[in-house]
Amino acid sequence: MKRILTTTLAVLALSTSAAFAAGSDGHVVNYEFPFEGLTGTYDQNQLQRGLKVYTEICSACHGLKFVPFRTLADEGGVGFTEDQMKAYTAGFEVFDPTMNAGEGDFRTATPTDHFPENNGVGAPDLSVMAKARAGFHGPYNLGINQFLKGGGGPEYIASLLTGYTGEEMEQAGTVLYENTAFPGGWISMAPVLYGDDVTFDDGSPTDIESTAKDVAAFLMWTAEPKLAARKQMGLTAVIMLFVLSVLLYLTNKRIWAPVKGKKGVRETA
Ligand code: HEC
Repeated sequence: MKRILTTTLAVLALSTSAAFAAGSDGHVVNYEFPFEGLTGTYDQNQLQRGLKVYTEICSACHGLKFVPFRTLADEGGVGFTEDQMKAYTAGFEVFDPTMNAGEGDFRTATPTDHFPENNGVGAPDLSVMAKARAGFHGPYNLGINQFLKGGGGPEYIASLLTGYTGEEMEQAGTVLYENTAFPGGWISMAPVLYGDDVTFDDGSPTDIESTAKDVAAFLMWTAEPKLAARKQMGLTAVIMLFVLSVLLYLTNKRIWAPVKGKKGVRETA
């Protein structure tokens, strides 16, 4: 017994030290989100807070070019009313190439337009970032952690925003900031959250971690707006398959009953 215990401990110690040695993968905190689990759904208030963080801070550098404004009024997501969605949309200008006799011009955005593109300072588009980045890598990248904890995209984004150590260095004329979540450890995006960067009408906390989680949840919605519907569909399919299996099993028993000679069933057949 004692030997088993020491072996287990040794293996555990070895595997954790291996994880540290592989450290450049970045450290991702397993934050909790309401949309996790079999039946989890988006928290509308959190998405609205995240949209606010995106609008006031991230949109200065990052676009959301795959997200149409009208989806802000969709059910199961941000959940704006039509009027709220239209008022929000009217705050944007988009470039319309058909205006001005084919020369193109800027005009006020309408609900069918998408959020503007913005890759200004080499900042990637964030529309599907939460799906593009995996948060967890299992031992030797077997994907075991992905299976157990989920993809981890939003966890990665929240960890990225909270992962700055305050260290900077200059490399080839670019300032890099040390970040514990970013693979490689140094990112060219400066820290953007300092706490109290936004104000929320519902009095929700505005510390770095809370706002980071809110905007990460919002970016999960932009990447996967139909998450709840997809989960429900999956669950329904599993239940239907289960019922079907039971029926097939019973039918099978009944069909073979005369051959196998099970008394009770033969009498009723
Ligand atoms: C001042 C401009 C600026 C602002 C504001 C900004 N970012 Fe960035 N962001 C960048 C740049 C530049 C990169 C590319 C960094 C790199 O690859 O080194 C980046 C990269 C990222 C990445 C991708 C990291 C990866 O794995 O490649 C994410 C996610 C991200 N930003 C999220 C955000 C969020 C969320 C906000 C708002 C809270 C935000 N950013 C605000 C400039 C900005």
